[in-house]
Amino acid sequence: MSNPSYVTINADRVWLRHMDLSETGITACGGVHRPALTAEDIQAHVKISEWAAARGFDVELDAIGNMFICRAGSAPSATPVGSGSHTDSQPYAGRFDGPLGVLTAFEALEALEDAGVTTTRPIEVPIWNNEEGARFLPGLSGSGAYTGALDLEQMLDCVDCNGVTMRSCVAQLHAALPTAKNRELGQPYAGFVEAHIEQSTILEDADEIIGIVTDIQGNRRFDVKVTGENAHSGTTPRARRKDAFVAATDIAVALREVFWDEEDVARFTIGMFEVLPGAKSIVPGEVNFFIDFRHPSKEALKELGDQVEVIAQRRAGPCTVSVTQVSGAAPLRFSDKVTDLIAASAERHGLASRRMISCAGHDARHFVSICPTAMVFIPCWKGISHNELESAEPELVAAGAQVICDVLVVIAGWA
Ligand code: GLV
Ligand code: MN
Ligand code: MN
Repeated sequence: MSNPSYVTINADRVWLRHMDLSETGITACGGVHRPALTAEDIQAHVKISEWAAARGFDVELDAIGNMFICRAGSAPSATPVGSGSHTDSQPYAGRFDGPLGVLTAFEALEALEDAGVTTTRPIEVPIWNNEEGARFLPGLSGSGAYTGALDLEQMLDCVDCNGVTMRSCVAQLHAALPTAKNRELGQPYAGFVEAHIEQSTILEDADEIIGIVTDIQGNRRFDVKVTGENAHSGTTPRARRKDAFVAATDIAVALREVFWDEEDVARFTIGMFEVLPGAKSIVPGEVNFFIDFRHPSKEALKELGDQVEVIAQRRAGPCTVSVTQVSGAAPLRFSDKVTDLIAASAERHGLASRRMISCAGHDARHFVSICPTAMVFIPCWKGISHNELESAEPELVAAGAQVICDVLVVIAGWA
């Protein structure tokens, strides 16, 4: 292997790209509302594809709506190196969750182009479709279908809350990018690295700049449906009620107690709760809610996660309850080969760093079974994320871009 041709990224440019991209779907509070494959998300893809075309990079699009920016290497048939993330957002969320991973990698391509450096392997910046899962469930569906972890046809048949299929939205994305080349799913990578904001406060509290992400915690997600009986709220005495709200809240409180741990490691969230028929004077006959449970330990995921069904049945009162696990992922470990490269880059630039676990899910998860993979975190303000106030400092964005660029250059030279 020849010595890597390290290049210096352009700190101003990578920041301006972030500010420019966040105009697409910007909210009154300065965040972004850009759920997957909405007009705003498609516009974000078009914008990045125009930047790519202006730099002479190829743009490719696959059947699940992943877009790839490709910079050729000197060995064009060599397996490429990848670094990317997503442009879709949670509803009314932030400017950096996703775009940071796309735009730091895009900056690496631009910096290599400016320096006239040709890497041996091609380097690609994928934009994975529907990472957040906010519009179509499950999330990470673009990277999942690409790597074979999820079924393409099942994903395309997913519908959003208005009955719109992902298939029809992917067709709109293809129509908006008529010159993009077709890309086969599953083409291999020699390595994959993704930059992301930390979305917590460990780096910020320690005044550190680079998180070397060694692991991602696991998760289990459940749909819970409680069925009672609609009744008149004025005339129906307690003894005759089958109040689905009462049963669902009893279940929720009992679950909160079971999942409460002294160490504050288990992450238990009920973020969606639907009361039906949703009328002021009807005892509700149906409640649906969604549980997002995450934990770094495989055993805890099993033991605590299995309690959802047990507690739900025990606390249903006169109602009936059904619990369906809709998705799950085991905790995983990233590649030491790639985390060592991240650590070496941070050291080279004098950036304080630490090895750490990711508590959020990321597209990089799906690449662990395909190629050496890891992630780079930078701090975000007060750890705030999935919130319009999400923010990151320009110099931290630049530090992340520099580390991504260094790592890509080294992997692009791997034999
Ligand atoms: C991704 O945003 C997640 O919810 O972990
Ligand atoms: Mn993200
Ligand atoms: Mn997110």
